Amino acid sequence: MSFGTETEPETEALRLDETDPLPTLRGEFLVPPAPGGTYTEAAYFAGNSLGLQPRAVAARLREELDDWARLGVEGHTLARRPWVDYHELLREPAARLVGALPYEVVAMNSLTVNLHLMMASFYRPAGNRTRVVIEDSAFPSDSYAVASQAVHHGLDPASAVVRLRPRPGEDNLRTEDVLAFLEREGGSVALLLLGGVNYLTGQLMDMPAITKAGRAAGAVVGWDLAHAAGNVPLRLHDWDVDFAAWCTYKYLNSGPGAVAGCFVHERHVRDAAVPRLAGWWGTDPAVRFRMDPDIAPPASADAWQLSNPPIMALAPVLVSLEIFDRVGTAALRARSERLTGYLAGRLAPVRGAEVLTPSDPAARGAQLSLRVADAGALVRRLAAGHGVIADAREPDVVRLAPVPLYNTFHDCHRAAEALAGLLDGQ
Ligand SMILES: Cc1ncc(COP(=O)(O)O)c(C=O)c1O
Repeated sequence: MSFGTETEPETEALRLDETDPLPTLRGEFLVPPAPGGTYTEAAYFAGNSLGLQPRAVAARLREELDDWARLGVEGHTLARRPWVDYHELLREPAARLVGALPYEVVAMNSLTVNLHLMMASFYRPAGNRTRVVIEDSAFPSDSYAVASQAVHHGLDPASAVVRLRPRPGEDNLRTEDVLAFLEREGGSVALLLLGGVNYLTGQLMDMPAITKAGRAAGAVVGWDLAHAAGNVPLRLHDWDVDFAAWCTYKYLNSGPGAVAGCFVHERHVRDAAVPRLAGWWGTDPAVRFRMDPDIAPPASADAWQLSNPPIMALAPVLVSLEIFDRVGTAALRARSERLTGYLAGRLAPVRGAEVLTPSDPAARGAQLSLRVADAGALVRRLAAGHGVIADAREPDVVRLAPVPLYNTFHDCHRAAEALAGLLDGQ
């Protein structure tokens, strides 16, 4: 690939694209046109917010629509992928993605709904152990969810919800501080619910160490993996995580509002005493259609399902999981580290943009968060003048995620040049 009038860094970016051990799969995705600048395609860095559409999704949806048109209700059993068991198709690839046993995962609902379903089972305040711990920079939906759960249990969120803050003057939580907190106050913690990768800073938490410490302190440990699933390697079963939930519209490229995922550790799926909110899809499929009023939950995460799954919404998730299976999470993570490392290196000399994300590749995923003077204005100028799509978290954070499936070193070059041009001169 050559653009004729390359600068030296551009030549280097193109060379990196040509020689990378895992070439980009950009051609399998629909990249939006550039809203401005000299390139036809956008340099799309908002995959941490909404991933791009795999080209294969439209054909897959067409098949489901055709089966519906052709078969009506019979599609439940006669569709080429029978709808009655459709969620089974996602089980194994989803388990591989998050490092789970197949019966520990299920695709259902949306993320916040799944967090609530998990808390209905696993946030059981009792005696002195009543508190739920989140990070201060938790995504607002998580803050609202845990506060409403506390109220649901007759507790005052002001005292029941603990928000872990970084040290003064720092942007990221130190693992040692989280562990010290658990050592000190773990006896009062009913539930620890943190983001695996923080949505604002891009910090990748030390999930194994924190899970171990939380469980040793007697707390239940759950993870919000919205920014981690499809972004960083996960071993939820081996880490002994109690539960986790994630959305699939970010790094998992399954479309706006796509169906979420949920993990429940096998020790809980086998425990009939765990209280659950129930619906008919959470009963054993062998007896589901007997329409018995008494539920017979299977020993799997499926026991938390409520409703029959939305097939049109699951189809893109299946397409996406097939891509991840084909490429492999280890190879993707390695490419991700190369891309993000390259972008971080190119942004380091840019004045007026302070990178909040940890510089240690082991403590971050794909996303880099920059503190800038006016995030909204900068993002608008990046798009309109340069065709670079980033996102703003007002007032002062811009997030850029080079996604290893479809972003290139040349995209990173474009972002770095545009940021330097817009910020260095201020
Ligand atoms: C970390 C995190 N948690 C929760 C949510 C809420 O997701 P949903 O609207 O799918 O429930 C988001 C959405 O972006 C998120 O980033």
